[in-house]
Amino acid sequence: MKTIDELLAEPVAGRRVFVRADLNVPLDGTTITDDGRIRAVLPTVKALAEAGARVVVASHLGRPKGAPDPAFSLAPAAARLGELLGADVAFATDTVGESATATVAGLTDGQVAVVENLRFNAGETSKDDAERGAFADQLAALADVYVGDGFGAVHRKHASVFDLPARLPHYAGYLIATEVGVLRKLTDDVQRPYVVALGGAKVSDKLAVIDQLLGKADRILIGGGMAYTFLKAKGHEIGSSLLQEDQLDAVTEYLERAEKTGVQLVLPVDAVVAPAFPDLKSKAPADATSVAADAMPTEQMGLDIGPESRKLYASKIADAATVFWNGPMGVFEHPDFAEGTKAVAQALLDSDAFTVVGGGDSAAAVRILGFDENAFGHISTGGGASLEYLEGKTLPGLAALED
Ligand code: 3PG
Repeated sequence: MKTIDELLAEPVAGRRVFVRADLNVPLDGTTITDDGRIRAVLPTVKALAEAGARVVVASHLGRPKGAPDPAFSLAPAAARLGELLGADVAFATDTVGESATATVAGLTDGQVAVVENLRFNAGETSKDDAERGAFADQLAALADVYVGDGFGAVHRKHASVFDLPARLPHYAGYLIATEVGVLRKLTDDVQRPYVVALGGAKVSDKLAVIDQLLGKADRILIGGGMAYTFLKAKGHEIGSSLLQEDQLDAVTEYLERAEKTGVQLVLPVDAVVAPAFPDLKSKAPADATSVAADAMPTEQMGLDIGPESRKLYASKIADAATVFWNGPMGVFEHPDFAEGTKAVAQALLDSDAFTVVGGGDSAAAVRILGFDENAFGHISTGGGASLEYLEGKTLPGLAALED
């Protein structure tokens, strides 16, 4: 994979460089609630601009349905990028239309433009190779060189991620180079004990990675909504907690395999329960209590790991050499159910291990709960992408940069 350093070794002044970023930031209306992904692409954009390139930044945001939708406009992200760069950033109100063409043509050396949400064009996410290819052709007309730096989207076989690099000289940006370097440490060269903490709502999202990790990790700590499917598989009553009934067989097989192979698959020993899902807007007290995992009342739902589980998980992390964490341990957005996620984050900080926080919700949780993100070894910008990397899958956006 050629990196941006090789591109910068050549004269780039005056060349139009297309940077595929992941500016998929959480928004409250038009207010960005976490700009981590914009900050993550700054080194690449800055280096290109300083070298005199005409930088065209493109990204998706949310999941619009292949047509313009103002709720998913990249305008706030473009404005934030300008603030962080301390420079004017031009904004094209379409992706490959008149506005984009004119905006790119109007760039001077060292100037940066952002084009509108790539998913406003159906060709971006199309399953049809020809439709994606046609959109990639139009994108290719906007630039002379491609830099892939949207790590959070490399697991998507989308036009700007997969098809466009084949049409232009292509390089990996600094973010992708860093992310891949970190993930390699977790796959090729892992220091042990290797502990993985997995949370989040759905077991089905995590099945493939658990399957892979059962052969690689020393301990797998299970939390979040998916823990209840595991507890059910062990024969426990789980009240009205989240249950993925169709995953019970798979989960049972994992528990058996862990037993046979000596991998510790650690489940919560207690849970914080409440009669109903809490109100995340008002954050009104939720009538929460802690109960043992094998004594959950029928009318209650589990919404966080309990105090004994927090201690247990912290002790499993304490002597680790490597920790990968993906997914909150509970409904951390509500104060009654944030302690499990806080405890795992704190355990990562307290250990001497190389710690990786795997993107998405867990990265946002770390910031929202007030932890110093720089204190972690690495906070990935890609939740789905980092999981699929650990699953051993070929990621289209990385494969496209290899050729
Ligand atoms: C993410 O938020 O994980 C990435 O930006 C990818 O978004 P997607 O899941 O909508 O493709």
